[in-house]
Amino acid sequence: MSAQVIAVMASGKGSNLHVILAAAGAGHCPVDVRLVISDRADAKALDIARTAGVAQVMYINPKDYADRAAFDTACADAIEAAGCRWIVLAGYMRILSSAFVQRFSGRIINIHPALLPAFAGADGVADALAYGVKLAGCTVHLVDEVLDGGPILAQAAVPVHDDDTRDSLHMRIQAEEHRLYPATLKRMVEEGFTLAGRRVIWNRI
Ligand code: GRF
Repeated sequence: MSAQVIAVMASGKGSNLHVILAAAGAGHCPVDVRLVISDRADAKALDIARTAGVAQVMYINPKDYADRAAFDTACADAIEAAGCRWIVLAGYMRILSSAFVQRFSGRIINIHPALLPAFAGADGVADALAYGVKLAGCTVHLVDEVLDGGPILAQAAVPVHDDDTRDSLHMRIQAEEHRLYPATLKRMVEEGFTLAGRRVIWNRI
């Protein structure tokens, strides 16, 4: 099975990007991260990508574009020019335009730090903690035009402890993210899936 060429979009510290690169480098995840895009010049994800030797590492400044659609078009053109089949969002904090989602329909994947459909949105960890759930977790899902609303590929749960803060709970969730994201990408490439309505049905190999 040859590796699938992917682009990763990240705005923050890049720990998910790091584990994907590490898993790919170790031969545990059949993806070739050909392009990393960030919308933030100070994103640690950019350093992680450069250190790992990713072929194209791009900071694209949203302020250089008239609107979200124009910015997204610039990102989409770079992704297509690099020959990327999949787009992996790893802490990418901008909402994608409909045109971007439609252009790469079914080929954009995101990880969200909550058990969707509960606690979609910008701070799922704080929202889950404030709500008082006893189980939190993370979700890997396909991206469609509904925020955090696409079909679910994989989930993992973690307990919420009485003395948790947002940070301590997020750390426990991220430990699961770092296992789940590369494992799900591997499964996507090696096994593939079909959609039955909203349900992701994994193909048997
Ligand atoms: C993760 O918790 C992910 O679920 C959310 O953003 C965070 C990114 O973390 N979408 P990192 O930048 O990969 O460390």
